[in-house]
Amino acid sequence: MKTLVAYFSQTGNTKKIAEAIFDEITGEKDIKDIKYVSNFDGYDLIFVGSPVMEFNIPKNVTNLISENVADKNMAFFMTHAVPEGFESIKSWTGSIEDFAASGNFLGTFECQGELAQHVYDMLINSGNPEMKGFAEMSLAGKGQPDETSVQKAREFAKEIQGKV
Ligand SMILES: Cc1cc2nc3c(=O)[nH]c(=O)nc-3n(C[C@H](O)[C@H](O)[C@H](O)COP(=O)(O)O)c2cc1C
Repeated sequence: MKTLVAYFSQTGNTKKIAEAIFDEITGEKDIKDIKYVSNFDGYDLIFVGSPVMEFNIPKNVTNLISENVADKNMAFFMTHAVPEGFESIKSWTGSIEDFAASGNFLGTFECQGELAQHVYDMLINSGNPEMKGFAEMSLAGKGQPDETSVQKAREFAKEIQGKV
């Protein structure tokens, strides 16, 4: 069995989770930045990871999934700035299940990831109370993903691999 861990990451949070998943996977395996992945050919199991950006999963990620997932075993992992239990998390993970509908979707892992300072500053200074509130809420994510999240990602990887 051959596994691919493909990730999109701008500030390293999703990459950290990708590396934890990759470490835990047994058998033949590759880890790649999503910009070097054009399809899932040759893999029996694919983990795809992404940050949430502008209240969505970025298009490069959803396109890669919807165009290549047919008949493939796929799991998803995601980092976001909102705290655990935040309402929108379900809609983001739900949207991935829709994009992956033609494949064998095995599950999602999600955790908080520290918001980049420049985005925080932009939101705080935006003059938009909603954006300011979002920035303030993200402060609880300083230092995330931490060791606990990394450990949970490892357990997720093991559980998913056990399903294939
Ligand atoms: C431009 C931009 C937009 C973002 N929009 C959201 C958002 O809508 N919701 C959210 O929870 N986090 C948002 N974030 C925070 C990231 O999802 C979070 O910090 C993530 O861990 C970043 O992952 P990375 O380090 O792998 O790029 C945004 C970050 C950036 C840079």
